[in-house]
Amino acid sequence: MTGLVGVFDSGIGGLSILQALRAELPQSRFIYIADSGHAPYGERSDEHVMTRSRAIMAELVKRQAQALVIACNTATAVAIEQLRADYPDLPIIGVEPALKPSLALSQTGRIGVMATRSTLASAKFKTLLASLASQAEFVVQPCDGLADSIQRSTGSTDTSDIKLLCAKYTQAMGSFGIHRGQIDTLVLGCTHYPFAVEQLRELLGPQVQFVSNGPAVARHTRLKLSQKVLPAAAQSERCKATAQVVFLSTGEPQVLLAAAQRWLQQRLAEPLFLVDELNV
Ligand code: DGL
Repeated sequence: MTGLVGVFDSGIGGLSILQALRAELPQSRFIYIADSGHAPYGERSDEHVMTRSRAIMAELVKRQAQALVIACNTATAVAIEQLRADYPDLPIIGVEPALKPSLALSQTGRIGVMATRSTLASAKFKTLLASLASQAEFVVQPCDGLADSIQRSTGSTDTSDIKLLCAKYTQAMGSFGIHRGQIDTLVLGCTHYPFAVEQLRELLGPQVQFVSNGPAVARHTRLKLSQKVLPAAAQSERCKATAQVVFLSTGEPQVLLAAAQRWLQQRLAEPLFLVDELNV
């Protein structure tokens, strides 16, 4: 049996998680929903994010998903507990800013965290931060508009908005580098931000390390699947990905199509590639 795994985000950001999932679970099939008709999540109310997350989950379950990955830090922070209560028999995996992995990487003990306003304000993030605060100094920065500008620049060569916002937010965080008192490690706490690494690298130089959670979430998903409903899918060894993906969008399918082609293309061996307008 090959498993069908549902994955969702407010837009294209979750593709950074899907990349890792496809590498880790090459025998699985995926349905990816970009809720771009109702994005961005990170600057909307918790009620909005909760309502949308429940609607998207219901759609994925209707389409026979046997496990779910919330490929969005904001939706995880706001809605994962409710979704697990709604679907107690389904494995539901979320994503949170990679604070723990960043501890092992930082030499200066000063770690930057970029995320959406909503993620940083959530009780879940505050608890995580408090549990690690004695081990390093975390400089947290809400990045209004950044996910949206990454979303909008898909398929275009004009990345000037992304550059401007990255410059504004990294300047606000202080000095970056590998010397004492500098931020040497930057947590990309929104799944859109790995798609701005080029711009961040240009601003911060080659020595700053970027941390995101894709590979860890993918490994955790495989573990969960092997314990629960999809053992055969989880057994697959890392190998050339042949995983199939169905892409759906509540907003502009062309944006999702362009992003999937750009970020996943090399690994799309035999994709079942279907872009659709969803009215959920
Ligand atoms: N990609 C999402 C996250 O990881 C949020 C982007 C948005 O604000 O919609 O938080």
